[in-house]
Amino acid sequence: MKHIIIRGGRRLEGVLPVQGAKNSVLPVLAATILHPGVTVLRGCPRLSDVEASIRILRHLGCRTDWQGEELVVDTSSMSRWDIPDHLMREMRSSVIFLGAILARLGRAEMSYPGGCELGPRPIDLHLAALRKLGAAVEEKGGRLCCTGAAMEGREITLSLPSVGATENAMLAACGARGETVIVNAAREPEIVDLQNFLRSMGCAVRGAGSSTVCVVGQRATRDSVHTVMPDRIVAATYLAAVAAAGGEVELTHVDYRHLSTVTAALHEAGCRVLGGDGRIFLRSDGKLKAISPVRTAPYPGFPTDAQAILMAALLRSRGTTVFVENMFDNRYRHVDELCRMGADISVEGRVAVVTGVPRLSGAAVRCTDLRGGAALLVAGLAAEGETAIEEIQHICRGYEDPVRDLAALGGEIRWEER
Ligand code: UD1
Repeated sequence: MKHIIIRGGRRLEGVLPVQGAKNSVLPVLAATILHPGVTVLRGCPRLSDVEASIRILRHLGCRTDWQGEELVVDTSSMSRWDIPDHLMREMRSSVIFLGAILARLGRAEMSYPGGCELGPRPIDLHLAALRKLGAAVEEKGGRLCCTGAAMEGREITLSLPSVGATENAMLAACGARGETVIVNAAREPEIVDLQNFLRSMGCAVRGAGSSTVCVVGQRATRDSVHTVMPDRIVAATYLAAVAAAGGEVELTHVDYRHLSTVTAALHEAGCRVLGGDGRIFLRSDGKLKAISPVRTAPYPGFPTDAQAILMAALLRSRGTTVFVENMFDNRYRHVDELCRMGADISVEGRVAVVTGVPRLSGAAVRCTDLRGGAALLVAGLAAEGETAIEEIQHICRGYEDPVRDLAALGGEIRWEER
């Protein structure tokens, strides 16, 4: 089994480009099937979740081909509308294929998606949106059987701004007749990236980035080339690592505006942060101070995906910081692992209280989920001695190669087969 070994305490310094965004490329990969033709994805990150999407596309009869950092997807030979259970279990995002397959073929069959690591993650809003468009959704023995040959554009009001439900509704609406208006849509930058991609294929979508997204159903007619947007959570991870360990970094291929709540928190903690023109610069002496309460919220609020990462950066800060996790019920599983390294964190329900300690010590720890794993990287780089991180398959879902990136900044970090 592969582990990541870190010897903490080194300053981190250098310039680092940020990979393409997982949460953008996954819905884009599902969306490729709206157009029976070819899509070239530039800057496509090499992630296990991307490989899982590729396996689904291939099962459906599509062709995919890596050409360096570009992924070429040809969906002209798509012939199936079903996704088997073992492919659905690999990741939660597989559910986004539902709207796309319905739009292309008028029917779809799949089981419930995997990934309950953050507590219950229902898909009721996804299914309600598809039903609103006129799709028939039957649930038989754990399988979802959907037919939507005659979907009609409608107003869909989401009871909460779910990212996945907004994406599924957008993709299904491309295959419906007439106009769909999605009210209380998620406003995440990845939704804007999906809209940009859909437009490049010839779909009529507007409003992404606001709470109202409008889609006029029409066939996607164009082959396209799409560059995947930068991953704001990977950027947040590397900023947090430098903040915690001390040093100076310039991230390139990053959008400063997408990270404003994260950089504001790091600034409040005592880092110097400057951004603009596709770059972010951060300097830290590694001696952070506690900050005002961090409450996760839908974009443009503080991202739940950066909660564990910021928490890890503040473990040695002066004072006490309160975190309130408002998005998921069970998103503090990293806390026990951080405590093994000497952190002082108490959790009650949605609230975690972090009291800074003078030092962290390296330990054998285990990734509990993707961003919880990233938090262990951050803590390991700021700890004294050796940290051995197990179950790194969680990290590989969303980070191309954190060892390559953090070693490039001077971190003492390596893969090890144990
Ligand atoms: C996406 C991101 C994930 C991020 C999350 C919140 C991707 C691939 N993943 O996940 O990294 O942590 O947004 O920013 O983009 N909900 C329901 N019913 C539904 C759907 C969602 O109750 O049908 C609830 C969820 O349980 C959760 C909240 O809505 O409490 C937000 O979830 P959602 O925005 O849908 O997250 P995902 O799209 O799964």
